[in-house]
Amino acid sequence: MENTIIVTGGAGFIGSNFILQSIERDSTSIVNLDKLTYAGNLRNLEAVANERRYEFVHGDIADRTLVRRLLERRKPPAIVHFAAESHVDRSIRGPDDFIRTNVDGTFALLEEVRAYWGNLAGQERIDFRFLHVSTDEVYGSLGPEDPPFSETTPYSPNSPYAASKAASDHFVRAYHHTYGLPVLTTNCSNNYGRFQFPEKLIPLMILNARDGKPLPVYGDGQNVRDWLYVEDHCEAIAAVLARGTVGQTYNIGGWNERRNIDIVETVCDLVDEIAVPLGAPRRTLITFVKDRPGHDRRYAMDATKIERELGWRPRETFESGIRKTVRWYLENEEWVRDVTSGSYRQWIETHYSS
Ligand code: NAD
Ligand code: DAU
Repeated sequence: MENTIIVTGGAGFIGSNFILQSIERDSTSIVNLDKLTYAGNLRNLEAVANERRYEFVHGDIADRTLVRRLLERRKPPAIVHFAAESHVDRSIRGPDDFIRTNVDGTFALLEEVRAYWGNLAGQERIDFRFLHVSTDEVYGSLGPEDPPFSETTPYSPNSPYAASKAASDHFVRAYHHTYGLPVLTTNCSNNYGRFQFPEKLIPLMILNARDGKPLPVYGDGQNVRDWLYVEDHCEAIAAVLARGTVGQTYNIGGWNERRNIDIVETVCDLVDEIAVPLGAPRRTLITFVKDRPGHDRRYAMDATKIERELGWRPRETFESGIRKTVRWYLENEEWVRDVTSGSYRQWIETHYSS
């Protein structure tokens, strides 16, 4: 068997960081299966596009024939499954694609992987892994004094996005329990870093602040998220893939709870420092807008298990990570111009005008 893993959704934010990191770290070859939705961007992978150990396959995880042929052709020892619709606000406006990809797509993938794995024998069958990348949002919302989510916190998804991810997690679990498929699941908190599509809080705020546009903070801005630098998340996934116990789930987080308003103020101050100054501090652009329906108040991850069992802890501090991130968005104008044309503008106009 070749040392070639299949990554789904590798043209997105986290998947592309994962591919670049993996190719740089060791001799792994990677096949990236991605549908290239609005969130998929092959520019993220320019550095490896001509690399012998990298192959891009344009396609849908729900296309079972395509997935079957790919598995037969490349005979991977592992799949890392990132592909998903990932934006909560879009799931509120139209959940269909979330069911199609996150639930039906994951199910289709699992069925094909189960058939492929069923035909493996000996050590190859024992060593095979299906790693499912999921989110802390499946656990619901915490009160201010609640302990952070652990791997045993009951699922309580609140948005259509979270419900679709919870459904996929349950299918992955069931395929292990029922069929013995060697699965691993990771549930991670909010990521930030290069290549994140600017519909999400941090890149949206960086670009609006750069351009002197209003900074739309939902509700009272007191919602709390646990922020993790994307490269730390990718290292955690690699650790789980290499050393995780089959059938287990691992919570991944930054030990870094912040209120949204504090994040936005930090971004304003960094953009003031690095970009061309405006007439007034960028904090004056902060505008409180109508809250997200069903907006979860607080997320926080207890990442003790992955540290204890696999020795992973985040390496980047929030202060250095957010500085790098702001700088990256300000220095990569072409990337930004590319992703903020066309359908992106339409999303921003529709979403923030109502
Ligand atoms: P993203 O939206 O940036 O990228 C998703 C990628 O999946 C895109 O390249 C897209 O083209 C591809 N894709 C979508 N539907 C597909 C389909 N049917 N077939 C093949 N490819 C398809 O997402 P992201 O932020 O990189 O998140 C990746 C994964 O990590 C998701 O499963 C998400 O739920 C999970 N996650 C994200 C975060 C976060 O903060 N961004 C945190 C925890 C977990
Ligand atoms: O927690 C992990 C999840 O983090 C991932 O599973 C999701 O894929 C990812 O999108 C992210 O979900 P969030 O909803 O937390 O991320 P988002 O960047 O959309 O919003 C972060 C917080 O900022 C949230 O409380 C809503 C708020 N917000 C967001 C936007 C886009 C604003 O106040 N204004 C905004 O314009």
